[in-house]
Amino acid sequence: MVFSLLLLLLLLSTATAAAAATSAEAPSTGNATIYDILPLYGLPPGIFPDTVTSFSLSSDGALSVNLSGPCYVDFDYLLYYAPTITGFLHYGSFVDLSGIQARRFLIWFDVDRIKVDLPPPSNYIYFDVGWITRKLGVDQFLTIHSCKSSCRLSLTVNRAFQQAKDFFTDLFW
Ligand SMILES: *[C@@H]1O[C@H](CO)[C@@H](O)[C@H](O)[C@H]1NC(C)=O
Ligand SMILES: *[C@@H]1O[C@H](CO)[C@@H](O)[C@H](O)[C@H]1NC(C)=O
Repeated sequence: MVFSLLLLLLLLSTATAAAAATSAEAPSTGNATIYDILPLYGLPPGIFPDTVTSFSLSSDGALSVNLSGPCYVDFDYLLYYAPTITGFLHYGSFVDLSGIQARRFLIWFDVDRIKVDLPPPSNYIYFDVGWITRKLGVDQFLTIHSCKSSCRLSLTVNRAFQQAKDFFTDLFW
């Protein structure tokens, strides 16, 4: 299963690389879902959970994604998705991100950028949190995850640490 997904991703990315070589334009999206589009940018589809209700992608790569509600997904880190996520899609990265946070030692940190190694397939996916970059195995992002119900139990802790967060970021990560 994982292997065939990898193979599919490999084929997709090879096709994309060929398309990118012959055309400087953004990939044609048609009626594609966000999960179809991410691989066209060399990114794994599972970056977004299965609750995407709508999205818009401009020719400059500006991406806005709406979910049916707030969402938590357990990867190597617990990720939080706001109901609306925005950023810019580039080949191999999703930058100027807003709406995704990663939890580390009960503290929530904004994820600013998600990127993969080029050319695909990349074995790793990188999450930039402030000036810290975390490397995760890309496998867990090849499938589309459902949201788990989780409340922000750490909200109080998070508040308490908020002011000192920047100072502590490199200690926590
Ligand atoms: C999108 O879907 C509509 C109707 O479902 C269809 O007419 C149109 O050709 C599709 N466009 C593409 C690019 O597939
Ligand atoms: C996302 O939701 C907001 C608020 O409901 C809406 O204004 C916006 O148009 C939606 N975006 C897309 C891409 O559907």
